[in-house]
Amino acid sequence: MAGDACILVTVLLTFATSVFGQETSSRCYYMTDAIPGEPKPDDLPDLEWTGGWTDWPLIPAEPRDDVCINGWYPQLTSTSLGTIIIHMEEEIEGDVAIAKLNYDGSGTPEIVQPMVIGSFNLLSPEIRNENGAWYLYITNRQDYETPTMRRYTFDVRVPDETRAARVSLSIENIDDNDPIVRVLDACQVPELGEPRLTDCVYQVSDEDGRLSIEPMTFRLTSDREDVQIFYVEPAHITGDWFNMQITIGILSALNFESNPLHIFQITALDSWPNNHTVTVMVQVQNVEHRPPRWMEIFAVQQFDEMTEQQFQVRAIDGDTGIGKAIHYTLETDEEEDLFFIETLPGGHDGAIFSTAMIDVDRLRRDVFRLSLVAYKYDNVSFATPTPVVIIVNDINNKQPQPLQDEYTISIMEETPLSLNFAELFGFYDEDLIYAQFLVEIQGENPPGVEQAFYIAPTAGFQNQTFAIGTQDHRMLDYEDVPFQNIKLKVIATDRDNTNFTGVAEVNVNLINWNDEEPIFEEDQLVVKFKETVPKDYHVGRLRAHDRDIGDSVVFALRTPCRSQSPGIQRLLSWS
Ligand SMILES: *[C@@H]1O[C@H](CO)[C@@H](O)[C@H](O)[C@H]1NC(C)=O
Ligand SMILES: *[C@@H]1O[C@H](CO)[C@@H](O)[C@H](O)[C@H]1NC(C)=O
Ligand SMILES: *[C@@H]1O[C@H](CO)[C@@H](O)[C@H](O)[C@H]1NC(C)=O
Ligand SMILES: *[C@@H]1O[C@H](CO)[C@@H](O)[C@H](O)[C@H]1NC(C)=O
Repeated sequence: MAGDACILVTVLLTFATSVFGQETSSRCYYMTDAIPGEPKPDDLPDLEWTGGWTDWPLIPAEPRDDVCINGWYPQLTSTSLGTIIIHMEEEIEGDVAIAKLNYDGSGTPEIVQPMVIGSFNLLSPEIRNENGAWYLYITNRQDYETPTMRRYTFDVRVPDETRAARVSLSIENIDDNDPIVRVLDACQVPELGEPRLTDCVYQVSDEDGRLSIEPMTFRLTSDREDVQIFYVEPAHITGDWFNMQITIGILSALNFESNPLHIFQITALDSWPNNHTVTVMVQVQNVEHRPPRWMEIFAVQQFDEMTEQQFQVRAIDGDTGIGKAIHYTLETDEEEDLFFIETLPGGHDGAIFSTAMIDVDRLRRDVFRLSLVAYKYDNVSFATPTPVVIIVNDINNKQPQPLQDEYTISIMEETPLSLNFAELFGFYDEDLIYAQFLVEIQGENPPGVEQAFYIAPTAGFQNQTFAIGTQDHRMLDYEDVPFQNIKLKVIATDRDNTNFTGVAEVNVNLINWNDEEPIFEEDQLVVKFKETVPKDYHVGRLRAHDRDIGDSVVFALRTPCRSQSPGIQRLLSWS
């Protein structure tokens, strides 16, 4: 049965097309073929009909926009007058008079059952008499999307007339169904790149077919600025007027970091206000181009010298959507291995930065600058260096040391001078910072001899020389035997820790020289003798002393009482 119906439909369509040639010349074109659908033209000419039942058995009823009679095509045979072709829109509510019977006889017209094509029950046609006129009514609401409701052919017969009028009723599609956009998968788009169409293609379908698919438009809405970033590119599918495709395009590059997920709505709108809105999620895929980013890091570390230190540092892949393992290294100008960095296993937990025991006194430096570098394990060109400063505190762990343990010098006794040792006289304290010390002289032998000397300056720092000189040279008397070989100690005491001292032994030997005047035991000698004493008479004894050791005293006689006895010098002599 189904096969037979199909053939009949084909025959009828061919017939209609052959009669009118170009479809555009069809009277009901606006209803049958216009895409998008058009309203009934204002200038649609009325059908001219003349005669009675045998000439025009069915004529227009009251005109309405959703029914159009294409024409009457007489084909006189023994049983048939011809065919009237009528178009009626689907989905009309209520009863529709599609034609008026051009019959004024007294009998009751009837619809021949079964119908030639289509189900009588699906169409429910009726012939009704209204005010003495007969009308052909359709009483069942039609739906173009139900295939068995698209086309009906049936005969209308009136009494006393052997030939029937055939009605070919075509139900016309209207754009009444909502389009459907199918978004099954989330859209994934790699970040960066040029504005382009993405690989995100979605299907849009509409039961109304070409009528709806061809004029379909799309609107993108978003709470955020996604409207400026995304667009929808529609595309038709050759040979398929029930489906089409839309492709998401981007107007500017996406950025995974600033927005990894875009959410917006796409609305499909057909020629009627039918619409379907779907929410589209665009997941931005990270494209590797970001170097690692430091998460746990320091700019400065400060700790005491001669201690080993460890610090945890951590960087992550700047491409957080990729999250590669990060390895670490360091850049330093140090010649010695003072700093180390070791990546923790796996490359996702950071690294341990450690230091050797740093001796700032030996290195003469307490500030160290270096760079810690985090890089992607498989590509060092993705690296992020960060400068760090290591400050190592000096610890007061060195005591002042004399430049020489012992100094020996010989100086002239009782002479103001400074001691010019053969070697530099001084102390050094190797500490980098805690290297201040005070110096003082202690006399060892003879006791109190330190009074005779000064030392300048009295304080030193790191490597310092000092001057020692006499301040009370009169104490340095060779003739005072204990002073001939003086022993001094110069003691340097650490300013911050008086337990730290350094001692330089200083030996000062005095050189004897004729620095002493002979001194008479008595200031005057009064003698009395007779004038008659002979030559070589021993007048008296005078004693003079000279303190200079090894020195001798020579006496001479001068006449102190010039005026009284000028010739006495000649008369007295020493023996
Ligand atoms: C979308 O459809 C609804 C009814 O389904 C309608 O009220 C609305 O106006 C339509 N929107 C547009 C933009 O046509
Ligand atoms: C490392 O990354 C750079 C920069 O993206 C790239 O040019 C290079 O080919 C990469 N090297 C390897 C070994 O992947
Ligand atoms: C101290 O300084 C002197 C001269 O500047 C130098 O000769 C000597 O080697 C230095 N000593 C130390 C321990 O640095
Ligand atoms: C100096 O030595 C004494 C005794 O050994 C000790 O008690 C004191 O703490 C030390 N002082 C310093 C500053 O180290």
